Formats: sequence, C-alpha cells, structure tokens
Amino acid sequence: MKTRHDFEHMDAHDPLRSLKKQFVLPPATIYLDGNSLGAMPFDAVERSRQVVEDEWGVGLIRSWNDAHWIELPTRIGDKIATLIGAGKGEVVVADSTSLNLYKVLSAAIRLAPQGRKLIVSERENFPTDLYMAQSLARQHGFTLQLFDSPEELSDLINNELAVLMLTQVNYRSGLIHDMQTLTAQVHAAGALTVWDLCHSAGAIPVDLLGANADFAVGCGYKYLNGGPGAPAFVWVNPRHADKFWQPLSGWLGHEAPFAFTTDYQPAPGIRRYICGTPPVISLATLECGVDTLLAAEKFGGMVALRHKSLELSSAFIDLVDTRLAEFGVRVQSPRDPALRGSQVSLSIEGERDGETYAVMQALIARGVIGDYRAGAPNLLRFGFTPLYLGFAEVWDAVEHLYQVLQGEEWKQGRFHKQGAVT
Ligand SMILES: Cc1ncc(COP(=O)(O)O)c(C=O)c1O
Repeated sequence: MKTRHDFEHMDAHDPLRSLKKQFVLPPATIYLDGNSLGAMPFDAVERSRQVVEDEWGVGLIRSWNDAHWIELPTRIGDKIATLIGAGKGEVVVADSTSLNLYKVLSAAIRLAPQGRKLIVSERENFPTDLYMAQSLARQHGFTLQLFDSPEELSDLINNELAVLMLTQVNYRSGLIHDMQTLTAQVHAAGALTVWDLCHSAGAIPVDLLGANADFAVGCGYKYLNGGPGAPAFVWVNPRHADKFWQPLSGWLGHEAPFAFTTDYQPAPGIRRYICGTPPVISLATLECGVDTLLAAEKFGGMVALRHKSLELSSAFIDLVDTRLAEFGVRVQSPRDPALRGSQVSLSIEGERDGETYAVMQALIARGVIGDYRAGAPNLLRFGFTPLYLGFAEVWDAVEHLYQVLQGEEWKQGRFHKQGAVT
C-alpha cells in the first residue's frame, strides 16, 4: 500500500506543480470544490483594483475604448475557444449559463426539421438546464423527455427528435457523455445537439469542432476560475451562427449598436449572442481565471492537466476503497478514468439521518472543502483541479474523512444546520 511519503514524492515530480503559485489559497485548507467555485487567481486582486481604481475611477466612460472594455466578451471568448476546441471568433462571454441555454435552445428548436417537437435530456442533468427547456417547451409546444439510461437515450435518438440537450460531464456522478458519438448519432437522425460544458471547460479536453457539435454553453466560475457569478460563455457552430436571431435581441448583439437605429439587425456570427452591457469587473477577473489555464500551455495544456486530474482522482478512489469502505463509503463516479470528469462523488451506504450532509460539514470544519449534493443517493462531491491541487493533499483529505467517520464527529449538532447553499 502507498504511504504519504509516496504522495509527497509524486508532488515533487509533478511537472505542473509550479502552476499553483498563480492562486491565493487560505492556509490549512485543502480545496476540493473547484468544480463549484474555482480558487482565486493571484492576479485577480491587482486586476480588479486596476479596473476599479484606474479604469473606472480615472478613465471613466473613456475606458470602454481606451481600456478596451467593449472587446472583453470577444477577447475572453477567443481565449476560452482554445480550451474547448472552437475557433477564433466563435465564442462570446455573456450573461449566465441559464440565459445562454435559453438562447441556444431557442435557436436549436427553430433550426430542427419542421414538425419535430421533441427535446431530450437526462433526468440527472443540472436542474437549470431542465427548467429552461421546460419553459421553452411550454412556449413553443414542444415536449421535454428525460432518459435514465444509455439504452433509453439511444431509443430516443430517432426521427422524432428535434434537439438533444446534454451536460457533457454530469454534475452528480462526473460521468462523461461521448460528445463525438452522440453528436454523430443525433445528426444521422436529422436533429441537433446542445452541450452544457459547465463541468468540462478547463476540466477535460473538449473538441467542439472535431465533434461537429451544434451549440454549447458553459460557466466561468468553476474550472475557469473566473470568480463568484462570473459570466458564462456561448458557442455556436459557424454553420448555424448567422441563421437565427436569438430571442434576447439586445442592443449589443446588434450589427451597429451605436447607430441607435429603431430596428434590430443582428450582428454577423456569434456577436449576436451578446445581449446587453457586459459586466466589466466580473469579466476582468474571469480573464485572470482563464489565463491560469492558458499558463498550462507550456506544460502540455489541457492534455497535461487532464493527465494529472485523473492521477489525482484515481489516487483518491484507491484511498477511499482501502480506508473508507468499512464505513459504507461507496464511489459513485465512473471507475474507468476515460469516463470520469474531474470530480469524484461518494455516497454512504445505509446513511443515518442527515449523515452525508453532516459529514461534509465536519470535513469542511477540518479545512477540507468539498460539497454536498442531495439526491438519490445523497453525495459527498469532490473536485480535483490539477492547477492547484497536490497529491499529498489528496492523502490528507482522505485521512480527515477517515477521522470524521471513525470519531463520529459528524454527529455533533452544529454539523446538521443547513445553510441556504450546500
Ligand atoms: C451543468 C450546469 N449547468 C448550469 C449551472 C448553473 O447555471 P447558472 O450559471 O446560470 O447559474 C450549473 C451550476 O452548477 C451546472 O452545474
């Protein structure tokens, strides 16, 4: 069996270890929640000060041009494009994932063959995706059908399907859907695909153009380290980008916003997916976050990050199996690395009332931060972000979890109080 010393050895030989210096992380904290909110890039502090004090405070309105604020949605979009297999000028940063889903799903149902009224998604997809699809289905007389298994999904890819909307990496289990194969199958059935990349962008290599996908959205605050509530991104395959006025036809998606004409004329290409004035301060920190990923390019980029992420999560799974099985702890994420995103979810078999939630709270009190996701089963969810996580930390995290369970620390009343955000 491996020892902590072996894990320290892996850290010493980790070719990506210098990338951690890009982040400010509190002492005595093992951060395993970059899949919910990425850590703060060191540069975000100075960059926010610069935007607020210099560009806003001194530059005032002139900064839209002089500090290039107006270019932020496309400039950062181009940087994100390099992480998701999209081309230059194909991605913009705007609004939230939910709003961008609304835009692209509207386009997809409009572009689907006439008479098809079926949107298909996964029952365990993130709720906002399902809620937005439900709203659109009601407005346009479509049906949203949910699948529970790959067999059900493959039955639903037929000549009634209009749009398959999937989150590439499932937020609960971390299972990766095969974008390439599913897109090909959906296209063969004459339908379109919408991909949510919230748990993919910056987490696994993504190849939107290679898969010939149709639409994609994703958020900026998870693996892209953009900061709380960072704006999201949207990609439309260039073959569709000019075909449809997305419904949130705001002035900055107009072909000439400063002509101030009465009639909407969409900008060519992806720029029409911008709606209103961009949130400059949030965009500034998002750019710092995206730059932390681009800094990995000289070490092999997303391929190298993916390699380390799987080494970390595989090491975690091995330790969980050997140390925690006696407490009923079970791995709920794919054991096959090829099918696993950058997270591992655990459940507790035969859990007693509120145990899973309380275990996570007790763990957080020890400085090991993951999160809890209610469901069947309830989950302890841990994200592995290779930019700032080391192997010895994985060892220590499992050791802390062992202590919480062994000492039944989680039974303390304070760990059972639910906050608004879990
Ligand atoms: C797959 C997925 N989609 C969407 C969201 C959230 O969307 P929004 O950024 O609009 O809140 C999340 C948040 O965790 C998510 O995991």
